[in-house]
Amino acid sequence: MSARHPWAMLGEGFRIRPATQADHPALAGLIRQMDKSGLYERHFAHGDAPNQALLQRLAEADGRDRVVLLGVGADGTAIAHAEYVSVATVAEFALMVLPAWRGRGIGQALLAALLEIAVRSGQSRLHGLIQAGNTAAIRVARGQGFTVGIGDERATVIVSRHIAQERAADPTVPQTGASITIPIPVRHDPDRTALHRCPGP
Ligand SMILES: CC(C)(COP(=O)(O)OP(=O)(O)OC[C@H]1O[C@@H](n2cnc3c(N)ncnc32)[C@H](O)[C@@H]1OP(=O)(O)O)[C@@H](O)C(=O)NCCC(=O)NCCS
Repeated sequence: MSARHPWAMLGEGFRIRPATQADHPALAGLIRQMDKSGLYERHFAHGDAPNQALLQRLAEADGRDRVVLLGVGADGTAIAHAEYVSVATVAEFALMVLPAWRGRGIGQALLAALLEIAVRSGQSRLHGLIQAGNTAAIRVARGQGFTVGIGDERATVIVSRHIAQERAADPTVPQTGASITIPIPVRHDPDRTALHRCPGP
């Protein structure tokens, strides 16, 4: 884990839990409260289609290859969302935190939680696509030991943890929070990723 323990800054009431289909209204409410630029940073697209796709993925969550987490406040209100989708043990993650709750370590906590689940469920790699100017998201990833790969012509970077390689290189390597530099692919098309592809009309 990072030196700063995320939960310590959030008070007793904050927790991260798996989301279920019953959370559909809560997640829709969270999306409504998100800022436009934050949604763009999350989806790489404007409009409601990616929000609907995100809501649909709730029904597909299996806790292993398709993971959806909610960060909830003391009163149970959803204030943050995190997910990964894995294809052949390569998992892509994305995060979002309501504007009023940013900068308190929730992003770090969510990514740490996703990483733990990815390790436990046998994923070989966890990576995320981030706009190159999204300093907050890049800091979150770096804080969890992700390496930052070179961006492509669409001004994105890929942050990665190569879980299987890390484990193979050194079985004693801590599986979360360790900073390890491993070469990663440099080109990536956001339109072809699991979490940034918009459903067609
Ligand atoms: C990215 C996001 C999830 C981070 O959530 P968060 O709860 O604020 O994250 P944390 O509080 O754990 O960490 C934020 C980090 O960014 C830093 N930060 C915040 N705003 C910043 C800014 N404008 N410039 C530079 N750094 C910034 C904080 O200091 C902190 O860094 P530190 O841990 O080294 O101190 C949140 O900003 C968000 O929802 N953004 C919109 C959606 C998005 O961009 N998703 C990422 C795509 S996967």
